[in-house]
Amino acid sequence: MFERPSGGATAVLVGLDFNNPDYEESLDELKQLAESARIDVCAVIRGKRAKPDAGTFAGAGKVEEIALTCQASEASLVIFNHELSAAQQRNLEQVLKCRVLDRTNLILDIFAQRARSHEGKLQVELAQLEYLSTRLVRGWTHLERQKGGIGVRGGPGETQLEMDRRMLRERVKILKDKLAKFKQQRDIQRRARQRANVFSVSLVGYTNAGKSTLFNRLTRAQAYAADQLFATLDTTTRKVFLPECGEVVLSDTVGFIKQLPHTLVAAFRATLEEAIQADLLLHIVDAASPSRDIQIEEVNKVLVEIGADNIPQVEVFNKIDLSGVEPGLERDEYGRICRIWVSALTGNGLDLIRQALAEHDLRRRQLLCRSETEAEAEPQNLGY
Ligand code: GTP
Repeated sequence: MFERPSGGATAVLVGLDFNNPDYEESLDELKQLAESARIDVCAVIRGKRAKPDAGTFAGAGKVEEIALTCQASEASLVIFNHELSAAQQRNLEQVLKCRVLDRTNLILDIFAQRARSHEGKLQVELAQLEYLSTRLVRGWTHLERQKGGIGVRGGPGETQLEMDRRMLRERVKILKDKLAKFKQQRDIQRRARQRANVFSVSLVGYTNAGKSTLFNRLTRAQAYAADQLFATLDTTTRKVFLPECGEVVLSDTVGFIKQLPHTLVAAFRATLEEAIQADLLLHIVDAASPSRDIQIEEVNKVLVEIGADNIPQVEVFNKIDLSGVEPGLERDEYGRICRIWVSALTGNGLDLIRQALAEHDLRRRQLLCRSETEAEAEPQNLGY
């Protein structure tokens, strides 16, 4: 039986290029993720491969290079910018004598550090356990000797020290039941809002795009905004009164990211339902980011995954103060506002967002009126 090395706060990052076009940006993002998890990055190891090595992902030569770098820098953590199989992770840990994490581990770890609400914590724990349940491999102690959950310095996994598979399944069931109760409560609140016919708008977007900053601007609330990935984990909902269109329910949601772990998407589905049920999505884009097009695509992929791709969307190109672009808006072929350029930081262009909300709300009301009239007219058509 092989006992896993414990992790630390100094890490070597490994990113291999399999001819992916966004290799550099993705590696930069891994650095930001590590910083967000308060990990010191002492070296970044790069390399090119045609395909991953089945046993160690990186291949013998590269693994040796990683081992030497770890020794020289006294790093006790190696983070791969890839998805590793359980066997690869085990083999690497045996050779490197360091805790090895993959990208999913790291994201789960950040979520564990950030979760604030009771529901958020349950969702992260569920995601961690579901991830863990897929990687219980023979000869690698996972649960019984695991210090600090699956991640770097702990999280909900830490309390699962003596847990075996059966206990893991039982815990997953308990978590799912608890989360189902939260979902029920939210459904009731949402239905009440729908009955009251309040316009509901969700802010979605890639992590760090500026959702919370914009949310705070529009609601004058104090949602946590910081220059780190995944500053916001819980969906925050506020009712605001906008002179242009009356009452609006605004929700700030968790940020999206490339290769968002599936277990996380599943665990956060309930929270993201706020977005699925919205009348309108404001898709916040960091207009100053060189990878903004890829980020837009990634967000749209997640929206498809959670079933929110048919909701009307306005793209909000934020941070125009950094690129010197003027505030402005663009309309689609039906005359609807579909794109806006703003700066949430300076407040420049916010009036355009309010205008977009007012126009979309007006359309929504007109559609509602029309469908109610049609519903009333239906019996007559049938001869009543
Ligand atoms: P997550 O919680 O990770 O999803 O991030 P978020 O999308 O909520 O972004 P947040 O509002 O936390 O902003 C991220 C960083 O971008 C912060 O440092 C903000 O101050 C900064 N920021 C937001 N809007 C603007 C803007 O219009 N211009 C500039 N220059 N910076 C901005």
